[in-house]
Amino acid sequence: MPATSVVGLQWGDEAKGKIVDILTERNDIVVRYQGGANAGHTVVMDGQTFKLSLVPSGIFRPEVQCVIAAGVVINPPSLLQEIEGLVSRGIQVSKNLMVSTRAHLIFPWHFEEDRLMNESTSGEAIGTTMRGIGPCYRDKVGRSYAIRLGDMYRDNFADRVEQIVAAKRKILTGLGCTEDSFLLDAKKIHAQYCDYAERLRPFVGDTTAYLLDAVEANKKVLFEGAQGALLDIDHGTFPFVTSSNSSGVGVPSGSGVPGRWVTKVLGIVKAYCTRVGGGPFPTEQDNAIGQHIREKGNEYGTVTRRPRRCGWFDVVAARYTARLSGVDSLAVMLLDVLSELPELQICTAYELDGKRIMNFPDHVEDLRRVVPVYESMPGWQEEISHIRRFADLPQQARDYLDRLSVLVGRPVEVVSVGPDRQQTIFANDVHNA
Ligand code: GDP
Ligand code: IMO
Ligand code: MG
Repeated sequence: MPATSVVGLQWGDEAKGKIVDILTERNDIVVRYQGGANAGHTVVMDGQTFKLSLVPSGIFRPEVQCVIAAGVVINPPSLLQEIEGLVSRGIQVSKNLMVSTRAHLIFPWHFEEDRLMNESTSGEAIGTTMRGIGPCYRDKVGRSYAIRLGDMYRDNFADRVEQIVAAKRKILTGLGCTEDSFLLDAKKIHAQYCDYAERLRPFVGDTTAYLLDAVEANKKVLFEGAQGALLDIDHGTFPFVTSSNSSGVGVPSGSGVPGRWVTKVLGIVKAYCTRVGGGPFPTEQDNAIGQHIREKGNEYGTVTRRPRRCGWFDVVAARYTARLSGVDSLAVMLLDVLSELPELQICTAYELDGKRIMNFPDHVEDLRRVVPVYESMPGWQEEISHIRRFADLPQQARDYLDRLSVLVGRPVEVVSVGPDRQQTIFANDVHNA
């Protein structure tokens, strides 16, 4: 039973980092396989908070191998800074981190393109994290202007940078930039990246071969999804998505490990729903309830500190993404945030053009027009952050979890009642016995 995958089923920030950190104990290898430093995964332990963007959330257990696989896009200074930040706080980051030679690199022009494209969109902006993610993936698919991590160690690296800088100058000027504003100096960029290459050298390897050997040797591998399935480039709320396959379907392509090795998929959801950036959000509560959730749940972006949009749990969306990602069971996170609300709403269906629908619309403009159909449940008033057993949760909280489970069609395996590792309830109570 080698591989487990952890996938966010909403629009990101479902607390995947917390779950991955906990599950690391039962695994040999933890793998990030898509996205980049647009991700912000939080792990809280012993009163310390760690925010990770590229390094897998398994890094806190030095006996476990962490892998940044081929499908991830990397801005080398961000990765180096993250590693140095961890090391300075006493976390071991050495041979226990391996980074793929095949991962694509983010360069200064990608940041510039991200900013320009976001500004130039007519209508609602995607509202990206401005980390150069979309432009880097665009160049990866386009191939001509792409540079991978392993390319930095090849003889023609300087020539490649020079050619691409010449092309990017034309592109950026065409997009309305003045040369002074983007200052692309090929020699300087090459020198900087050679320095990054040397500093990254101890970590670089063929992660695809490593992971294939690992699963064939029956090692336990944990895949850490970034973003959430509704931000999936192919199956999410396009174009208000990220540029990678952030649902469960991304595991094989991003890691090189065939899907047949993944024997367990844990779907991570918040007990409500949030979204950062643009795009439709049918159950959004742009009112006192949304504000209550935002403040109680500290719903401000981990990467950009933007206030997250907050709303009720959306079963139509979660059922869709649970099926899409092949989810076996659910982890329901941030349940404590719902304490004190007198009444909770669950969106059980949508109405579109007067018809009731259960399927998640395949066009963003239809999703904009849906009217959520809500089922109401009584809330609970007491704080629950100290509770460690399912049976000790208030009856209303258990009823709420049961109802989510029935509606999404998956058992609830884990419940989280606070950010700390300890503030976790396993439905089977094995860990609490
Ligand atoms: P990720 O991107 O999916 O890893 O999630 P983020 O780290 O961006 O956002 C989740 C936030 O919720 C972080 O600040 C966590 O520390 C916090 N968190 C995780 N679980 C809980 C919980 O059960 N209750 C509360 N109140 N906060 C939580
Ligand atoms: P984690 O892993 C929440 C959102 C951005 C924007 C859209 C595209 O922490 O859950 P991008 O920079 O990727 O081109 O932005 O996707 N987004 C996230 N939202 N959590 C994330 O990651 C996100 N990564 C990207 O806000 O709407
Ligand atoms: Mg996050």
